[in-house]
Amino acid sequence: MKRKYKRLETPRRILLGPGPSNVPEEVSRAMSLPILGHLDPAFLSIMEEVQEMLRAVFMTKNRLTLPVSGTGSAGMEAAFVNIVEPGDSVLVCVNGVFGLRMCDIVERLGGVLHKVEADWGKPIDIQQVRDELGRCDARVVAVVHAETSTGVLQPLEELSDIVHEKGALFIVDTVTSLSGAPLKIDTWNIDVCYSGTQKCLSCPPGLAPITFNDRALDKIARRSTPVRSWYLDMTMVQKYWGADRVYHHTAPINMIYALREALRLILEEGLEARWERHLKNHLALVEGLEELGLQLLVEKPYRIPMLNSVLVPEGVDEAIIRKRLLEEFSIEVGAGLGPLKGKILRIGIMGHSSTKENIEKLLSALKTILS
Ligand SMILES: Cc1ncc(COP(=O)(O)O)c(C=O)c1O
Repeated sequence: MKRKYKRLETPRRILLGPGPSNVPEEVSRAMSLPILGHLDPAFLSIMEEVQEMLRAVFMTKNRLTLPVSGTGSAGMEAAFVNIVEPGDSVLVCVNGVFGLRMCDIVERLGGVLHKVEADWGKPIDIQQVRDELGRCDARVVAVVHAETSTGVLQPLEELSDIVHEKGALFIVDTVTSLSGAPLKIDTWNIDVCYSGTQKCLSCPPGLAPITFNDRALDKIARRSTPVRSWYLDMTMVQKYWGADRVYHHTAPINMIYALREALRLILEEGLEARWERHLKNHLALVEGLEELGLQLLVEKPYRIPMLNSVLVPEGVDEAIIRKRLLEEFSIEVGAGLGPLKGKILRIGIMGHSSTKENIEKLLSALKTILS
């Protein structure tokens, strides 16, 4: 039986939610380039470039730096499944959805979970981490740098010192922060770090850049049990991305083209200039929101510049605001999650979406809707 469908068309949106962000023309173009075989020498040299560019964006010299095939959650899973063995004590810092997700993964891996918690919208108190590390024997500490569910940016440097004083490994989620806010893997001594392509990298969802330093590789080498995921076992994935080129799985070729172009654009802009652009646009957005009488959930020093949690005024239905933004202005913003559902709007100004023009359009649309 034959069936006929219309050719696919999609509406054009201004993506100002918690991800994905809009994608530059060059990245879309790269995705539509002719496909190559995954062991074609031309593709292998693209893989080399992607790894080199990822090292530059992560600010690391780590040899094992590559994009995991899968979204940010695959990056999270890859970090934990390689490092954590059954019976390992792991301390997770929880102040939002993604910290909770880390806890779920640790327990599924048979790890012994310890938690330090903070209210949603507040940073983790590092004194509590110090105290908990004094009480438990955690060999791994994990934290979310930019907690997308609340808008909190967690300071990392001092936390990293505390973790290493105890000889533990430090795993950091930078799905929302990579290339949007300062992040220095080697200088800040982060052992394992993963991200996602669809936020500040402004590449479609589908890859999870990840990096492991020598301390982390040593922990993997000393495992007494095999990594519990075949697909995400970095010792095997690395053999494909490294000199051996041993087939593991078929790389998502065109996504890797897209990431290569997204990284090229980031490095051409310059990391410092990109961080600065995100900060400048965040400050302009906050000023405009305050003029409309809107306030942010998070205190100033801990705000993620790329993800703004805006408190919904008393008596206003945030679902209607989001619906009208989408239908009348083709602008997407995000809703609150968990305990913040109905209480906040999440406005993402990430990567290619972070422009003065987009902020002006959003503020003008909000003004119309709120009045
Ligand atoms: C901080 C953080 N970690 C992990 C993830 C999971 O990424 P993905 O939805 O791409 O699987 C997200 C997604 O929003 C995130 O914001």
